[in-house]
Amino acid sequence: MDFYKITRPILFRLDPESAHRLTMTGLRIMTRFKAESLLSPGISAEPIEVMGIKFPNRIGLAAGLDKSGNCISALGAMGFGSIEVGTITPLAQDGNPKPRLFRVKERQAIINRMGFNNPGIDAALENISLSRKGFKGVVGINIGKNKVTENSRAIDDYLKCFRKAYPIADYIAVNISSPNTAGLRDLQNPQTAEGLLSRLKDEQALLQEESGRYVPFAVKIAPDIHCGQIKELCELFNALRIDAVIATNTTISREAIKGLPHATENGGLSGSPIAEKSTEVIAELSEDLDKSIPIIGVGGVDSVTSAKEKIKAGAKLVQVYTGLIYRGPSLVRELLAANL
Ligand SMILES: Cc1cc2nc3c(=O)[nH]c(=O)nc-3n(C[C@H](O)[C@H](O)[C@H](O)COP(=O)(O)O)c2cc1C
Repeated sequence: MDFYKITRPILFRLDPESAHRLTMTGLRIMTRFKAESLLSPGISAEPIEVMGIKFPNRIGLAAGLDKSGNCISALGAMGFGSIEVGTITPLAQDGNPKPRLFRVKERQAIINRMGFNNPGIDAALENISLSRKGFKGVVGINIGKNKVTENSRAIDDYLKCFRKAYPIADYIAVNISSPNTAGLRDLQNPQTAEGLLSRLKDEQALLQEESGRYVPFAVKIAPDIHCGQIKELCELFNALRIDAVIATNTTISREAIKGLPHATENGGLSGSPIAEKSTEVIAELSEDLDKSIPIIGVGGVDSVTSAKEKIKAGAKLVQVYTGLIYRGPSLVRELLAANL
């Protein structure tokens, strides 16, 4: 039975952030009463090894839905092979003033300017350790910087989160592409990125030596970067032997939704209007990245066809967010059934 057919009309009558909060509360209650099996797709797909980690399947939940790490096992029960929690910053922060989340229903899209609302790395790691119990998939921890931290000190925030997340995460995602923290995307400038990523690579080597465990890290990039910059970034990622690239985050472009309600809201646009652009970025990455560096494709995946496009363009794994909001858990079942 597709519960989402019943719950979606109710959720969509609420403002998007209340709907999100209610859903997360519902998922936590399901975990508490051990009712997660109700979410099960009853189907599995081929496992795949990426970044040296065995993923139970290619379908992951993208960052931003579970920002606190509270709902991993309930979300995992939907069939996801991986859950990326975050973005998490060193200190807790409230994010931007509300309203900051908008549905663009006409195009099955969302605009968000949440601004990294999260409980801070220490609380998030406690949540993750508890809520991942029972989840047999892969847990990624997506890290960023606090709003109050100047870009010149951004590296300190990433390092703090990296060190703390390392013992808990299966992989770490370094988010330098959110449009909702002023200046964050400047970290994608190749020279700035080099300083940050080489420092994180050094730290990774140190932590590996100390712990005897290698935790890979992926870099998450925006769709709003031009071809030349992608080439330069690929040179850097190849030189530093970055473990994976996640493409893409949301876009600041409104080209695809001009004239529609909420189109003029500031923030990042996600969902079907960004599918083509993010697939183009994946295709460019797959030309310029060393074949040993996997790409995780995300942006507008809402069907088997759109997921296959990402894989055809060069993605090894795909992630979803907005598609899940519009289609519900049956989307995950459909993607698993296709055994991508
Ligand atoms: C409400 C919302 C919040 C998000 N928050 C984050 C975040 O905190 N960190 C991050 O890396 N990406 C975040 N994203 C971006 C998604 O992870 C994903 O890259 C993007 O939405 C494109 O995928 P989609 O079209 O399937 O949603 C967020 C997206 C949405 C819709």
